[in-house]
Amino acid sequence: MPLETGFFTRANELVCDGVPLSAIAEAEGTPVYVYSAATLRARYRAIDAAFGDYPHRLHYALKANSAFAIARLLREIGSAVDANSIWEIELARKAGFSAADIVFTGVGKTDAELECAVPLGLKAINAESAGELARIEAIASRTGRAARVAIRVNPDIDAGSHPHISTGLNINKFGLPLDQARELFGTIPQRPALTLVAVHVHVGSQITTIDPLRRAAAVAARLSAELSRAGVELEYVDVGGGLGIRYDDRDVASATEYVGALIDEVRTTGLPIVVEPGRAIAGPAGALIARIVDVKPRNAVSEFVVIDAGMTELLRPALYGAFHRIDVVAPRDGTDGGVRQYEGVRQYEIVGPVCESSDVVGRDRTLPRVRVGDLVAIRDAGAYGAAMASNYNRRPLPAEVLVDEGKWRVIRRRQSLDDMLRLELA
Ligand code: LLP
Repeated sequence: MPLETGFFTRANELVCDGVPLSAIAEAEGTPVYVYSAATLRARYRAIDAAFGDYPHRLHYALKANSAFAIARLLREIGSAVDANSIWEIELARKAGFSAADIVFTGVGKTDAELECAVPLGLKAINAESAGELARIEAIASRTGRAARVAIRVNPDIDAGSHPHISTGLNINKFGLPLDQARELFGTIPQRPALTLVAVHVHVGSQITTIDPLRRAAAVAARLSAELSRAGVELEYVDVGGGLGIRYDDRDVASATEYVGALIDEVRTTGLPIVVEPGRAIAGPAGALIARIVDVKPRNAVSEFVVIDAGMTELLRPALYGAFHRIDVVAPRDGTDGGVRQYEGVRQYEIVGPVCESSDVVGRDRTLPRVRVGDLVAIRDAGAYGAAMASNYNRRPLPAEVLVDEGKWRVIRRRQSLDDMLRLELA
């Protein structure tokens, strides 16, 4: 195991946990997602350790990346999970998580999903509305076992993140406004088929400052204290996920600052804290490796670099205008066979192969000069990368590789056309 872990440069070449990315690309082809097991573990442990001896549980948000091997790795180091669909719940159970390790969140849980989920006896089903709570109650009454529920409140807090991934304002579809939540809380004592275990908040994702996260935790803590005064004893406070990561050179709140603020706000309730981090664990642990298929003139100052990955493999730039660092895996030294060919850096528009003008992976990037056949690494793509990939343009889902202790293995084979056609009827 190298001393340095994650993605770093060794002998002028980008490696993951010591394994050259070029070797993985050579063997598995491109585009390929590569994950660092060491980084996944370190990111989990940083949040976990920040709690010190304050009672807590991390429920990794599977939606960020639910690769089976990653789910299992996180279970091995003690994580629990946040699942957003019955399929994420089933995957978690196959990966060895017990029902008590799973919280079920999300708007729009169908009757079919609830019929499966309620009898499992999950740690909590985080209800998003009065209607959903009633549906959970009806199923629980039939099964004769009270359902453990949390109620998601919408604290009307601006997460300061991209509007598509901010969830905590009253204009957003998530949770219940505080007055409606309080009304619902009042009904709980008369509903024996429901055991209210927590108040839940989640105000958005890629939140880079502490303030919105702190204020959301404060709202959840205040409501929990009100419930306690009314004689409803909760088991924990669920403050959701949302801690951002550093995609560019701007500062992002650290795990220590984040957890410190959560404890500050929740401590007076005397309740344990549940967090649901996704991106903060998986994001920096993954990179998407792509090969350059074409370079062509763009304008006086820049060229197009066309790569074999795009919005089908990594949707974030097209969908949110998200920035991901792009590195050349093995920058050339400006010579070719000892003959000086080119030197310096150049400005590039790095684009994918999909027939959409929004299929731009990196705008106006300055990189060492590249050529057709070179590899690039699109960084911090471990969260909401592979998980949001699609088959648009009949592009197969990419291969995924996990590097652990200096060895790498395929954790998801590249999809083939046959894989896709297997589900289709002529
Ligand atoms: N808990 C709940 C209830 C959530 O809705 C989410 C994310 C999380 C936890 C995890 O949030 P995180 O710690 O990862 O920020 N596709 C978008 C992000 C969508 C996040 C959805 N909910 C992106 O690529 O930026």
